[in-house]
Amino acid sequence: MENNQSWLGLGGKVAVVTGAVGGMGTKIVEEFAKQGANVALVDIIKDKTASYAQEIHETYGVDTLAVNCDASKEEDVDAAVKAVVDHFGKVDILVNTAGILRSSLFEELSLEEWQKSLDINLTGYFLMSQRFGRVMIKQGNGAMIHISTLLSKFPETYSGAYSVTKAGVNMLSKQIAAEWGQYGVRSNCIMPSLVKTPLSENFYKDKEIEQRRKDVTANKRIGNVDDIANAILYLASDRSDYTNGTELPVEGGLGIMMGDQIAKPGGRKEFAIKNK
Ligand SMILES: NC(=O)c1ccc[n+]([C@@H]2O[C@H](COP(=O)([O-])OP(=O)(O)OC[C@H]3O[C@@H](n4cnc5c(N)ncnc54)[C@H](O)[C@@H]3O)[C@@H](O)[C@H]2O)c1
Repeated sequence: MENNQSWLGLGGKVAVVTGAVGGMGTKIVEEFAKQGANVALVDIIKDKTASYAQEIHETYGVDTLAVNCDASKEEDVDAAVKAVVDHFGKVDILVNTAGILRSSLFEELSLEEWQKSLDINLTGYFLMSQRFGRVMIKQGNGAMIHISTLLSKFPETYSGAYSVTKAGVNMLSKQIAAEWGQYGVRSNCIMPSLVKTPLSENFYKDKEIEQRRKDVTANKRIGNVDDIANAILYLASDRSDYTNGTELPVEGGLGIMMGDQIAKPGGRKEFAIKNK
């Protein structure tokens, strides 16, 4: 595609990205900026958010705003909405990215850890969506994209409340879509899996584990942050205007590989070759 910018039409839009200085967030912010969108970077890590906002502004010439905010705290979120509206005068796009993943045996999961995952992964998405959504309703337009996970459909074992919170995110997104579609506000989820970021990099230090992870996907590769950002740009743009309340897997076809997991003598492909 020669003129990607005009195809997506994101130039001059205002995008709010939470988890803005995390693995996916940094790429999402950069890709919006490349499209000419102005970006509010929302994250709990203050200094890094400020310096990255400045870097993006200097590199791409778009307007950026660093917002230090704990997305799970109501007063922080309300202050973030005020800061963004005061600065930009509107909000076109919200991308909920801020999330945590903590390992735990379910029988040992403390109430405190359970609550923390719910607070950040689900309540944080609720607060950001509701408060920025009120602005979008008044405007009569807006697009929200919530980062869920393929493992909202299947339990991520030994990861505490993670899958439970993300299953909640899927329904939160649909609830918003069902109620706010009439106001021109769309809400969609993406469901990534097997993406190499700081949150998941420990899983890729061992090359054998990395290979086994590749093997369970249809594409036979690990995802990268560009894969995620590309899906988000599409769902943020008017090109997806008739797509609302959906869950888009971005996981190299991992979710369709159940049949491939069933063993056959010598291996499934070899079995087919020998027995045709
Ligand atoms: N990496 C993967 O393979 C993968 C797969 C599926 C889904 N996801 C989801 O994608 C999202 C981003 O993942 P990532 O790999 O970029 O993670 P990451 O840990 O690299 O980034 C998360 C960011 O969120 C910020 N954050 C955490 N708590 C916050 C809070 N209370 N308020 C504001 N900001 C907060 C962190 O400071 C960090 O910058 C998460 O929601 C995660 O569950 C990741």
